Amino acid sequence: MSRPRNSDMILNVSDLKTWFPIKRGIVSRTIGYVKAVDGVSFRMFRGETVGLVGESGSGKTTLGRTLLGLEKARQGSIIFKGQNLLTMHRRVFRELRQKIQIIFQDPLSSLNPRLNVLDTVTEGLEEFGMVQGDRQAHAVKLLAEVGLDKDAIYRYPHEFSGGQRQRINIARAISLRPDFIVCDEPVSALDVSVQAQVINLLMDLRDKLNLSYLFISHDISVVSHIAQRILVMYRGKIVEQGSAKDVIHNPQHPYTQTLIAAVPVPGIEKQRRSEIHADEDKIGSGCSYQHRCPDANEACREKPPPERGEGSHRFWCHQITSNAKK
Ligand SMILES: Nc1ncnc2c1ncn2[C@@H]1O[C@H](COP(=O)(O)OP(=O)(O)O)[C@@H](O)[C@H]1O
Ligand SMILES: [Mg+2]
Repeated sequence: MSRPRNSDMILNVSDLKTWFPIKRGIVSRTIGYVKAVDGVSFRMFRGETVGLVGESGSGKTTLGRTLLGLEKARQGSIIFKGQNLLTMHRRVFRELRQKIQIIFQDPLSSLNPRLNVLDTVTEGLEEFGMVQGDRQAHAVKLLAEVGLDKDAIYRYPHEFSGGQRQRINIARAISLRPDFIVCDEPVSALDVSVQAQVINLLMDLRDKLNLSYLFISHDISVVSHIAQRILVMYRGKIVEQGSAKDVIHNPQHPYTQTLIAAVPVPGIEKQRRSEIHADEDKIGSGCSYQHRCPDANEACREKPPPERGEGSHRFWCHQITSNAKK
């Protein structure tokens, strides 16, 4: 991919924070916050796929949902095609919102079981008065784009396999011709044999429709197949970002190194999926990774980590890691 120009920037997120209050007692007093997204900044360009990786509980879904207005941000800005989604009028937001879609992890529960495929994929089009010609013909065209047969239109979600259901979700997501799709673990619930087919479909559609994806996965090896750039998230913060090549082949942050070491090697039993528990340790103003880092010292416990790195490859760490010393 050629180097993106600034004019092709589709999304510019700065210092985004989404916190969930922790309430206790009969009067539901707020005693603290789960800082699910805690000061995240990144940019995305047209036609680009940015991978967002991190263990379960690191805040990936909350970040994706905040971009769509499904969670309320408490701070920051989300500039989408030049306009701040967090401060704009609701009517304008509704218009722009068509251009941002989401594909969820569980293809069955994200489909309405009482709607057939025809209604599912044309629901959004109807709402915005965008059906071209007859609705059936429009649906058949959408199905063809995701590799489903026209006979599917009168069938219901439970009659399909997991991979086919995710294709229906994808058809619905592209129906309004969006610019940007949040793909939240879109293949994690699918059989390994089907995962590659769905990823290939997403890549074909990206190239054909010039889409940008924020591709979320707990599995860095899945992300490495589709993303040009990778953001690594830990406890609400981006700890490393860079080109997929740099992040995967030359990881700098100890957390990224752990994620890469956890990638299962064929023939060796898959490691148990780890999970972050939001309230497990207090981190104060220090590094969010201090409790898990083998090299944590005084500075890590007291001060937020500084930004390091070269060019577009950046990481936030007090330590110069063993890789970076070379
Ligand atoms: N609606 C919510 N209310 C309270 N806490 C939430 C809510 N949604 C997510 N969280 C918490 O926010 C943190 C990040 O969750 P999530 O964004 O789902 O992470 P991921 O997608 O990386 O697994 C977790 O500690 C989770 O328990
Ligand atoms: Mg999630």
